[in-house]
Amino acid sequence: MARVSIKTAREIEQMRKSCQLAARVLEFIGPKIRPGVTTGQLDRLCHDFIVGHGAYPSPLNYRPKFSDQRYPKSICASVNEVVCHGIPNGRVLENGDIVNLDITTYLGGFHGDTNATFFVGSPRAEAKRVVEVARKCLDVGIAQVRPGARLGDIGAAIQEYAEGHRCSVVREFTGHGIGREFHEDPHVPHFGVRGKGLRLQPGMTFTIEPMINGGDYAVEMLDDGWTVLTRDRSLSAQFEHTLLVTTSSVDVMTTRQCPLVNSEVGASE
Ligand code: MF3
Ligand code: CO
Ligand code: CO
Repeated sequence: MARVSIKTAREIEQMRKSCQLAARVLEFIGPKIRPGVTTGQLDRLCHDFIVGHGAYPSPLNYRPKFSDQRYPKSICASVNEVVCHGIPNGRVLENGDIVNLDITTYLGGFHGDTNATFFVGSPRAEAKRVVEVARKCLDVGIAQVRPGARLGDIGAAIQEYAEGHRCSVVREFTGHGIGREFHEDPHVPHFGVRGKGLRLQPGMTFTIEPMINGGDYAVEMLDDGWTVLTRDRSLSAQFEHTLLVTTSSVDVMTTRQCPLVNSEVGASE
C-alpha cells in the first residue's frame, strides 16, 4: 500500500526553497558544459555550489531501500546511451554527446529533485530527436496533474507521446513521491492506462522524470551496480521536475528563472 504524505502550507514553503536551489544548480551548470570537460568536473562544480548555498547533495552516500551500496558522488551524469545514475568520473565530454545532469538538494529538511539533458557542442539529428521527445514527454505528463486525476493518466499521456514519436519509455525506473525523504510513495510510472492508479490530492508532492530511449525500452546495469544503459545502446534522454498538486492544478516547484544554456537555448542551432 502506498502511504502518500500530504504536505502542509508551511512544509511546502520550506520544500520550495530546496526545489528552487536545485533549479539554480541546473541554470548554473548549463554554460559550463562543453567538449573537453569531464563529468567529474561537473560533479565538483555542482557539489561546491550546493554546499556553498547551505544545502547537502542528496545523492552523496545515498543508499536506496533494498540496496547495500552507497552512491559515491553528488550528482548523476548520464552520457548518451546511459539511461540514469551515471557516476561522474574522468570521462571527457565530446562534441555531439548528450549528457543528463540530475540534481537533488537537501535544504531545510526537504529534498528538491530536477534534471535536464544537455547538448555538448553541436547535436546530431538523432540526439536532437530523442532529447526533444523526452522534453515534451515531461510536459505532457505535467499537463495531466490536477486533483482527481489518476497516476495512470500521467503514464498514459507520456507513453502515447513517446511511442507516437518513434521512442520508447523505460519501465524499471519511475517518478516518485518526495519531501522529507528523497524517494517516498507513490511510484509514478511513465507508462500506463488512463483512469487507473492512485487519485491525486492537493498537497501531494512527487516527481515526473520520463527516461526516453531512441530505440527499445530494455535496459541493463553495469557491474558498478549503478550505471543503467540501453540494452541496444540507443540514445536515452530525460527531464525531471518536482511537482505539487494544488487545489486546482499543478505547481512546478523546480521551475526555472531562465532558459537552460546548452539545452533550451544556444545548443541546437
Ligand atoms: N535523482 C534521481 C531521481 O531522480 C535518483 C538518484 S539516486 C542516486 O530519482 F543514488 F543515484 F543518486
Ligand atoms: Co527523482
Ligand atoms: Co532526480
